[in-house]
Amino acid sequence: MAISNEEIKNIQNSANIAEIISSYISLEKKGKNFFGVCPFHDDHNPSMSVNVEKGIFTCFVCHKTGTVFTFVQDYLNISFLEAVKVVADKIGITLSAGYKTVSKYDKHYEALDLAIKFYQNNLKSSEGAPAREYLKNRGISDEIIDEFNIGFAPKNFDTIVKLLTSKGFDENTLLETGLINRNNTLYDIFRDRITFPIHNARGNPVGFSARIYKDVDEAKYVNTKETVIFKKGEILFNYHRAQNEARRLKYLVIVEGQMDAIRLYASGIKNVVATMGTALTSYHAELLKKTNVKIILCMDNDSAGEMATLKNGEILENIGCDLSVLRISDAKDPDEYILKHSKEEFIDAINHATTFFDFKMKLLKKDKNLNKVDDVSKYINQVIKELNKSNDEVLIDLTVNRLVEEFNIDKNVLLNKIIKVETPKIVKVEKTPKKKLSKNHRLAATLLYYMMNDVKYIKLYEQELSYIPDRKYMDIANDILAFYLKYNYINIADFITSEIDSDYYSDVLEIIDSNIDTELIDNEYVGIINKIKIWIDENKIEELKIKLQNVTDINEKLSITDEIARLKKREV
Ligand code: GTP
Ligand code: MN
Repeated sequence: MAISNEEIKNIQNSANIAEIISSYISLEKKGKNFFGVCPFHDDHNPSMSVNVEKGIFTCFVCHKTGTVFTFVQDYLNISFLEAVKVVADKIGITLSAGYKTVSKYDKHYEALDLAIKFYQNNLKSSEGAPAREYLKNRGISDEIIDEFNIGFAPKNFDTIVKLLTSKGFDENTLLETGLINRNNTLYDIFRDRITFPIHNARGNPVGFSARIYKDVDEAKYVNTKETVIFKKGEILFNYHRAQNEARRLKYLVIVEGQMDAIRLYASGIKNVVATMGTALTSYHAELLKKTNVKIILCMDNDSAGEMATLKNGEILENIGCDLSVLRISDAKDPDEYILKHSKEEFIDAINHATTFFDFKMKLLKKDKNLNKVDDVSKYINQVIKELNKSNDEVLIDLTVNRLVEEFNIDKNVLLNKIIKVETPKIVKVEKTPKKKLSKNHRLAATLLYYMMNDVKYIKLYEQELSYIPDRKYMDIANDILAFYLKYNYINIADFITSEIDSDYYSDVLEIIDSNIDTELIDNEYVGIINKIKIWIDENKIEELKIKLQNVTDINEKLSITDEIARLKKREV
């Protein structure tokens, strides 16, 4: 780790967690705490509370808990150290120089960054003039060119090779970025094309999509091949820019082409990502689901786009996304639609997007002549097949009624074909219940929570117990003790952060989450310690009883029986 723990703690203590979180979501002060709509689940009421004194946030619906770093990390979908950097930037602390080499791909990102900048400048050169003209004709403004870092790759076969080699990048790194290739000599992959940089979800540059700008007999786009950092199945164009806006507006539009995404973004619809012509993977779907917002699937207006809607829709639905389908007409793709119509009309169309089920129904009708009975029968059977994938009784009932009305068919015939699905296929987790702990584990968790809050509880634990009869809780208690011995204080947020690489990280968060409403009362703590002593005694009694069965010596038997009696007496 390049940043020291001291430095991380300093940043954490200097940052006001409510101030940082409120730069992403709005918070309202109520009593001691701040409250906001939780961005980590589909929240409609302010379920997230932020405690400035403790330096932590918790959601009482999805139970997400953590420090300012945890929040930033998960909200922006970045690594822990990146989150530290973001928070440091926000409060004006400059990190020590060591920060740079955080990822093993930093060199790759650096090379791509340089290439992006070079291409950007080159677009402004005389060689870039025809490309600039092309972009202008497509209505791509200079601001958008800058915002998307659009550039131009020169015709020459090895400009990037020379540039980056002269900057000291080794051949292997450059080959791994997909910027160059070797065939006897090294050569540039992107030549005489407009370059669109592509970033990963964290906003690191990972590749390019490069377009022809004149009438030539070549592939329209050349995209970066699969590399160590460019995985087609993981990348969504514009995701890093779109996610915040999506969370704010509670929906996200998916389009096929990056030009579609750029057009929507330029028109003010910034919550848009592009699949770049590939099929959605479950990885993509997970990434989209993470935003916790409605997904509007808006593929091109052709049969390929229709098939893509079907396939991508299945993937999104299976993962439990809240999905709507927008099929545009009167334009071949969203880019053309906005140019021909307007942003307002597009938003109106978004507001009238259909359900994925309706899209499928329409699709099933498409190639059929519903004046012919065998086509009607085929259609109805296909609809029933779709209904049997669903466990939404309302949807099933509405659809069956629609079929009855439309085709004048006996409802019972249809109902007989509906298979009751017992277990729901898609489990949409609304409220994550807190884990049920046994009575003793609850005690231990509360004990640890007290200890994380105040040194006096750590001291009392050391004097009175210094043992918990459960491996996990015992280990965490030792971690708390170690923290206190090292730094001579205790603080919940700092303790969480110091646990970041530990196996118990999520357990610690759970302990905090489940005790967040626990008031720290000295007498209660003593009560907990006494109950844990009883738990320890109970365990001892069990052990002695087992021992008793295996002992033959009468004196030994007697002394064990005495010991058991003594322990039992202590219990009451
Ligand atoms: P424009 O013609 O510039 O408007 O492109 P588009 O954004 O409308 O793209 P289109 O719908 O033709 O294709 C969707 C996506 O598939 C593009 O954004 C590219 O990422 C990708 N794609 C299209 N054509 C090619 C190609 O010839 N080669 C490769 N590798 N990808 C392509
Ligand atoms: Mn297009």
